[in-house]
Amino acid sequence: MPILCNVEGKLVPPEEAMVPVLDRGFLYGDSVYEVVRTYGGRPFELERHMLRMERTAARIGLDLPPREHVIRELTRTLEASGNPESYARIVITRGEGQFGLGAHLSTAHRMVIIVRPLQLPSEEQYARGLQMAIAKTRRNSPLALDPALKTGNYLNNILALREANEAGADDAILLDLSGRVTEATTSNVFFVQRGVIVTPPLALGMLEGVTRAVVMEVARAENVMLREEPHGPEALAAADEVFVSSTLREVMPVTSLVFLESPDEKTRQVGDGKPGPIAQRLRAGFRRYVEQNHR
Ligand SMILES: Cc1ncc(COP(=O)(O)O)c(C=O)c1O
Repeated sequence: MPILCNVEGKLVPPEEAMVPVLDRGFLYGDSVYEVVRTYGGRPFELERHMLRMERTAARIGLDLPPREHVIRELTRTLEASGNPESYARIVITRGEGQFGLGAHLSTAHRMVIIVRPLQLPSEEQYARGLQMAIAKTRRNSPLALDPALKTGNYLNNILALREANEAGADDAILLDLSGRVTEATTSNVFFVQRGVIVTPPLALGMLEGVTRAVVMEVARAENVMLREEPHGPEALAAADEVFVSSTLREVMPVTSLVFLESPDEKTRQVGDGKPGPIAQRLRAGFRRYVEQNHR
């Protein structure tokens, strides 16, 4: 099934979807974006995604089109795609203007929406769990390009993923400059120690995942203890369970870790090397949340 693009309101196939080379998103990664998925054909937690995009845009001083316009164009593109379930990427760049870094040089934003059929991890992947590498590449300091901002500048994450893939791992977990676990390249990280769920606090510098927030609500509703605490990667190796959360992965177990900073790229099994009961319970709880709350 094909990809459908919406470029400034025009619905076109990807080979006809063009953005001028002077667009600041292309030149500098000067853009914001969101990835949403549908359940039952309707975008999930759109309000939280819109709020996050608006927060990011406000922090970088990028003017967004009105929210109603973004939602109208998203809905129109999803409907035109005819997909039973979709992945949608909304990208809004600072547009173009005179050549140069100065943000004031841009005259108007540019919005592109890319919709494609939803592709999800297989059940076999959930049963096997992921192997995550603890990358040498560190997460940006919140005082530099704050990782809480969902901008088009993903090179920090791309470099970490590259390291992980070179080592044969599925994905990477990034530490902050002080060696504390922050997040994975496109998901948030949790671990379980003696029945308590622990996740890094947002203040360390990471994206506030929409799925992270829902998973935390689900854990609290199920009376599982949850703490937001900073820890080093050794806490992951010693944990009973590790899992990650994201729009596409929902709640995905991590069953082994590779420490790329150790001289021999030491590999550690998490717990007994199988998906743990709390990750499985939270995924089921997440699915129930979708059934009960998604309209
Ligand atoms: C760096 C990063 N962290 C976490 C997430 C998970 O966020 P969400 O649950 O909103 O998909 C993403 C998603 O793309 C991400 O890029």
